[in-house]
Amino acid sequence: MSLRIKDLPRIPDYVQGMTDHQYLQAAWKNGPLALDRYGFVTAFPARLMQEFMDDRWTRQIETEGMYASGVTSGPMYDFVGNVMLFSNGDVHRRRRGPLARTFARKLMADLRDDVAVRCERLVASLIGQGEVDFLASIAGPLPAEVIGAMLGVPDADMPDFARHVYSAIRGLSLVSPEVRAESDADMAYLLDRVGGLIETRRETPDGGIVSYYLDRVTGGELSEMEILAQMVGLVVAGSDTTRGALTATVSHLLQNPAQWALLKEDPEKWVSGAVSEGLRFDPVIGSIGRITVEQHEIEGMSIPPDTLISASMLTALRDPDIYADPDHFDISRDDHPRLHPVFGGGPHRCLGEALARIELEEALKAVARMAPEMALVGEPARLRGYGAVRKVSAFKVRM
Ligand code: HEM
Repeated sequence: MSLRIKDLPRIPDYVQGMTDHQYLQAAWKNGPLALDRYGFVTAFPARLMQEFMDDRWTRQIETEGMYASGVTSGPMYDFVGNVMLFSNGDVHRRRRGPLARTFARKLMADLRDDVAVRCERLVASLIGQGEVDFLASIAGPLPAEVIGAMLGVPDADMPDFARHVYSAIRGLSLVSPEVRAESDADMAYLLDRVGGLIETRRETPDGGIVSYYLDRVTGGELSEMEILAQMVGLVVAGSDTTRGALTATVSHLLQNPAQWALLKEDPEKWVSGAVSEGLRFDPVIGSIGRITVEQHEIEGMSIPPDTLISASMLTALRDPDIYADPDHFDISRDDHPRLHPVFGGGPHRCLGEALARIELEEALKAVARMAPEMALVGEPARLRGYGAVRKVSAFKVRM
């Protein structure tokens, strides 16, 4: 007879002083599945990750997340209601199809030189400055600038654009009414600003990414709001993910001098491994949540429809069945699966992986070559949390 959800172990209370990894690995010792404090059935091992994202028995959480935060209207609600990430089935396929073609690897590869120049410019401006806030000076501006440039934001407006992006993103989490109001205002700004950029590209196509995308959606099935939401969605999906990933990877490199030395010795050779390992060792995505649509048997457990489920990235990426010596940061490891789990799976697998890797690789190459003496100041950066996008702490380096 299969077990029922009420029989599952609960994830114990957090013990002060544990890292997020230690905390979840301790919970995993009680079995492959457990119930978290929000009622999500959580899976720990890597082997369950893809099954938890399988759209034959699960679906993406749509606007329910907004309702749970008490949000039923406004700019953030409109965005969430129209963007591909929070949709399912045919609606999702309609929204994703044209953008997937726009984000094909080849088109992204053409952006590498531009990204490299941006990284070098950011790093060059900081050399000799002494103590530098890595988040505010490199990791934050880079992703917002890269996508901003893709959308046609002029360079002079970038700092202001980036500020609105990071402020708006906060509204995707549970936040205070004050932060919610600020984030809503910033989302309204982004929708308006990006809407204007789309209009400009309609009037004067330039052969760039937005023109390419508009060629594919104009006169098609998407509403104007859906077209706009997919463009703003790029900024939202591609900014604090890449910011956190770059910060955590650099922080771990600086805490592991032998690994940092290896990268500096031959950046071209080691950079791809450094990016994959940074994304594995301290993933910026804590978990991926879904809702079940039908009854399903898994690990001797019967999970009914309408159950909230979550696949834990933190534990899956340290699963000893996949990774040798998983608690060891090693940029030369050769046991990364062909598809890196941090970019998800199933129909929602990340569309921006190629771009994210280009940004992370070019940023690491720029610091390794141009700032080889870079060193930690004070505490290393930490990613915190177990939910969707983990929060990154302050991070200072000496350049
Ligand atoms: C290190 C950086 C990144 C990581 C770790 C990451 C991870 C992910 C994950 C796990 C998902 C799936 C979420 C789910 O299934 O619920 C996702 C979706 C998505 N990502 Fe990324 N991402 C990164 C960067 C980017 C970038 C740079 C872009 C584009 C500019 C991007 C665009 C998207 C889009 C559009 C989706 C929605 C796909 C869909 O719903 O079909 N991401 N990402």
